Amino acid sequence: MSFADNDFLRQLPKAELHLHLEGSLEPELLFQLAERNGVQLPYANVEALRAAYQFSNLQDFLDIYYQGAGVLQTEQDFYDLTWAYLERCAADGVVHVEPFFDPQTHTERGIAIATQLKGISRALADGQAQLGISSRLILSFLRHLSEDEAIATLQEALPLREHFVAVGLDSAEHGNPPEGFVRVFDMAREQGLQAVAHAGEEGPADYIWQALDLLRVIRIDHGVRCVEDPVLVERLIAEQTPLTVCPLSNTKLKVFAQMQDHNILQLLDQGVKVTINSDDPAYFGGYMLANFVAVRDALDMTREQAIALARNSITASMLPEVEQAVWLAKLDEAA
Ligand code: ADE
Ligand code: ZN
Repeated sequence: MSFADNDFLRQLPKAELHLHLEGSLEPELLFQLAERNGVQLPYANVEALRAAYQFSNLQDFLDIYYQGAGVLQTEQDFYDLTWAYLERCAADGVVHVEPFFDPQTHTERGIAIATQLKGISRALADGQAQLGISSRLILSFLRHLSEDEAIATLQEALPLREHFVAVGLDSAEHGNPPEGFVRVFDMAREQGLQAVAHAGEEGPADYIWQALDLLRVIRIDHGVRCVEDPVLVERLIAEQTPLTVCPLSNTKLKVFAQMQDHNILQLLDQGVKVTINSDDPAYFGGYMLANFVAVRDALDMTREQAIALARNSITASMLPEVEQAVWLAKLDEAA
């Protein structure tokens, strides 16, 4: 199979480890849900909404992303959102997903965490049964809100503990360092939850150190600014801490001016355990396969690098080793 042909990239078994379910809300579904729920939108139609997806930085994007999430109201809405994402995964050769949801975006609007979780979980179960896609869900705290609000969110979610396996930290990074969330992450870990955190997307390398040492995360979401601190890069290599990198997101949000400037393959070649992910694909121009294709085309990714990235996604996942082994064997066949 030719490497220039997207089918090679599509058939590689891949895990998606950095995906905000709310960021997979396509304009078409957004408009359908607005109509179903009687929500007035400040855009005339799908085209006008898509045209507004021009961002200079993370905050520009977050403003429109939180506004869009306002159409999600019922359990069925959360089901439909999650199911649509899983169908995209199936089309792209994604075999395992570890998505985030942002409960506070919805509890602020009076929507109970139980409503959110039941819809998402039912879709994830159908994804396993009907599409063969396994999953683990991550509950993510909004770092622009206070730690006390994160604690209240965790407490509301704990009776539904069987629906999620980890906590995360996302939203506006500047001025909201990981060190402000130590207590809530400690509480989560006491409950047997794993931890991940966005760090080093727009924020400095120091936030990556904090996420590692204070929040004790198993992965760093983004992390591309690690290169500003060579000692940190050495540590990431030594400990094989995965970075869930999101190439299209990083160019849309101007973390890198253009894909040719992206550092993902340099990090890979240095021995950092990087993975490819889509972050908020409805806003950034594509799902998993589009991210692989963009990296291949802009950075001359080789077949071997593509396979290494897919391998990293499997071994960086929370799947048990016996399940990882099945996908790794398939990747060996592709090599
Ligand atoms: N929420 C959704 N996407 C995000 C991103 N790329 N960074 C921080 N918070 C987010
Ligand atoms: Zn993200």
